[in-house]
Amino acid sequence: MTTVLVTGGTGALGRHVVDRLRVRGHEVRVLSRHAGAGTHVGELRSGAGLLEAAEGASVIVHLASDFRARGRPDPMQTRQVLAAAGQGAHVIYLSIVGVDRIPLTYYRRKLECEKLIDGSVVPHTVLRATQFHDLIAWGLRSVERWPIAPLPLDFRFQPVAVEDVATRIADLVAGPPLGRADDFGGPQVLTLAELARIWREARGGPRRTVRLRVPGAVARGFRAGENTCPDHADGTHTWAEYVAANPEPVYRLRG
Ligand SMILES: NC(=O)c1ccc[n+]([C@@H]2O[C@H](COP(=O)([O-])OP(=O)(O)OC[C@H]3O[C@@H](n4cnc5c(N)ncnc54)[C@H](OP(=O)(O)O)[C@@H]3O)[C@@H](O)[C@H]2O)c1
Repeated sequence: MTTVLVTGGTGALGRHVVDRLRVRGHEVRVLSRHAGAGTHVGELRSGAGLLEAAEGASVIVHLASDFRARGRPDPMQTRQVLAAAGQGAHVIYLSIVGVDRIPLTYYRRKLECEKLIDGSVVPHTVLRATQFHDLIAWGLRSVERWPIAPLPLDFRFQPVAVEDVATRIADLVAGPPLGRADDFGGPQVLTLAELARIWREARGGPRRTVRLRVPGAVARGFRAGENTCPDHADGTHTWAEYVAANPEPVYRLRG
């Protein structure tokens, strides 16, 4: 049995990671800013509560991220995690396929976190995953009642189930630090046009889509599928299966 601290263990992915690790018999600590949501209250921006939560943990799975702030606090939070790990704990960090190829602000900050980890003395494993099903659903749900939805239909994605990523992370917890692990993607690479068609067939909307032409390097990256890893299509759950299961929204729209 290993003592594992999970930052972001209350999130869309993190709750599955926590479940997997508990089922496998590990002692799991969950850091959260909210009392009662995890096992330990902590705030990664200031580092408050982190040392206590990490005390005696041999693995720290670092999933916490502030997507809404476009990852601005993430490098500082990663520094706090590295300091708490000392040289004793194995830090497992979840990043995103293509962070080094697509110059999205959030991706740049994830890449900065990777570099901080890589340049540290802390034993570590960095795993890059593709977009979660829930993220694609969040985007399509936001336009599904529109009569005509302008979307970048030629963007490519390889959506993956959080359950599959959680299993991969649980496997990494049981193994040695790898530095960079093999990327992890869903079973199929699909265009947004294909993803939206499957969504519409199951849910009735958006009734019509039109191709939104997005200029710039970020859009070029998504069009070219720089965010995919077809050689590692290791996830088992397809987008169609996810949509058919009619999932509750995991990410909420703002406002
Ligand atoms: N979404 C995707 O498609 C995707 C794809 C590949 C990789 N990833 C990566 O996967 C990881 C998990 O993503 P997710 O979508 O599951 O996250 P999420 O649902 O947005 O949850 C964010 C988590 O971070 C924690 N957190 C945020 N700020 C914090 C702070 N200042 N102090 C302590 N905890 C803080 C939150 O905990 P509390 O609110 O309980 O405090 C929450 O558990 C992220 O690193 C993300 O970059 C995501």
